[in-house]
Amino acid sequence: MKAGFYQFSPEFGEIKKNVKKTVDAIEAADVNLMVLPELFNTGYQFISKKETKELSEEIPSGYTTRALEDVARKKKIYIAAGISEKSKGKLYNSAILTGPDGFMGVYRKTHLFYEEKLWFTAGDTGFKVWQTPIGNIGVMICFDWFFPESARTLALRGADIIAHPSNLVLPHCPDAMITRCIENRVFAVTANRTGFEQRGDKEKLEFIGKSQITSHKGEILYRASEDRDEFSVREIDISRARNKQINSLNNLFDDRKKEFYE
Ligand code: ACM
Repeated sequence: MKAGFYQFSPEFGEIKKNVKKTVDAIEAADVNLMVLPELFNTGYQFISKKETKELSEEIPSGYTTRALEDVARKKKIYIAAGISEKSKGKLYNSAILTGPDGFMGVYRKTHLFYEEKLWFTAGDTGFKVWQTPIGNIGVMICFDWFFPESARTLALRGADIIAHPSNLVLPHCPDAMITRCIENRVFAVTANRTGFEQRGDKEKLEFIGKSQITSHKGEILYRASEDRDEFSVREIDISRARNKQINSLNNLFDDRKKEFYE
């Protein structure tokens, strides 16, 4: 199967513009699983809860989910994308998965980063894996990478590939994903954004680009530039993620010593 990402610099608050740019890129793509950045439709640096609420959408009835659902159906592909969600009076930093047969579900970010804690409620969905004909797709969002339990839980739940919508500001994630993939024998597509935001009296946030497709052995199949719009796709043999045998005597999951872990 072919998995890829669209790295770009969303314009803050310009939902229709950001969605159109993305949908145009997807229309032209030859891909089976497309991963978009975290909060790809709204931009990242909210400055009030009121603003966050105004830019958030219900899932799946909101504009952005519907637009991605339409293009995923039309192209018969899967799309994982970060969206600001409003639901029952709460706001979540969420990611949806939509596919050839329509909307599949939502994951709400577990580990909120920095000022996200001012606007969003920490996710209540737990880590989710969807079984599809192209492989089992697990989803985590950006800072979830910092907690190895996120990727481990997705792997234990059967993920072959981790779709990882991101808005990275710390420099370490692309390298850390090498380890996350080795230690779990999974593929990953980290879709990051580029550019910077400095809104209101907030500090400047610079996003590091470097979106990455990483193999089950920790090979960097592709790492994007720091600053350019990029659309990249790599062919992946998902079956390789299902063999957790490290050598003839070690198995990644069977050899875990849960009694000694916290
Ligand atoms: C992040 O979680 N957006 C750094």
